Amino acid sequence: MAKDVIVACDFASAEAVYAFLDKIPGQKPFVKIGMELYYAEGPAIVRELKRRGHKIFLDLKLHDIPNTVKKAMAVLSGLDVDIVNLHAAGTRAMMEAALEGLTRPDGSRPLLIAVTQLTSTDQESMERDLLIHEPLERVVLHYAATAKAAGLDGVVCSPLEAGQVHAVCGAEFLTVTPGVRFAEGEKGDQKRVTTPARARELGSDYIVVGRPITAAADPAAAYERCIDEFLN
Ligand code: C5P
Repeated sequence: MAKDVIVACDFASAEAVYAFLDKIPGQKPFVKIGMELYYAEGPAIVRELKRRGHKIFLDLKLHDIPNTVKKAMAVLSGLDVDIVNLHAAGTRAMMEAALEGLTRPDGSRPLLIAVTQLTSTDQESMERDLLIHEPLERVVLHYAATAKAAGLDGVVCSPLEAGQVHAVCGAEFLTVTPGVRFAEGEKGDQKRVTTPARARELGSDYIVVGRPITAAADPAAAYERCIDEFLN
């Protein structure tokens, strides 16, 4: 299975992304485009980064009625991205519809992964705001199992959950894990963090790394270090 480092390009403009990528010359990192960048620049940013040879995780976290998600996914599939995602909370029917929409006439499609519970949701807010009273960890694993049953390829989760997700959903079910920091680095707003090397030991398939690379004094060195620690 392909393992890789995905660089979260959390910038507000195309110019800022290109300026950042110019600091990693000779490399074509797998990049994550999130809502901020996509809503600012639209599909043009996806097409341009594809043209430059990057693999793309389009992190738009779709969540709507099945028919709407199916049609939106068909549009995203036409952009030739490599990974897209949605909220497992949209239900199994929505996830199945999404897969249908993503699948091209020749049977190919981007990988589709699910967000389980956002890491910004804790036990208290889940109980109070969502009226879900099961333990958070159990909810995450149940959503992952539902995503697997719907035919999805994996989930976004913490590296600390990757082992359990693989135990429940199988070794082939992808775990895409943010919350990665270098051993001596700033945590920022991430609470539970692991190093790239530890994420590998815990079974992550892809690590998503933003500020430790994008805000580094030497982004090229930080990216190389992530690759070294995670892949070698
Ligand atoms: O800068 P940092 O390494 O914290 O960036 C992590 C990226 O992963 C951000 O784009 C963030 O939105 C995303 N993410 C996350 N936690 C999740 C899901 C996505 O940090 N549970």
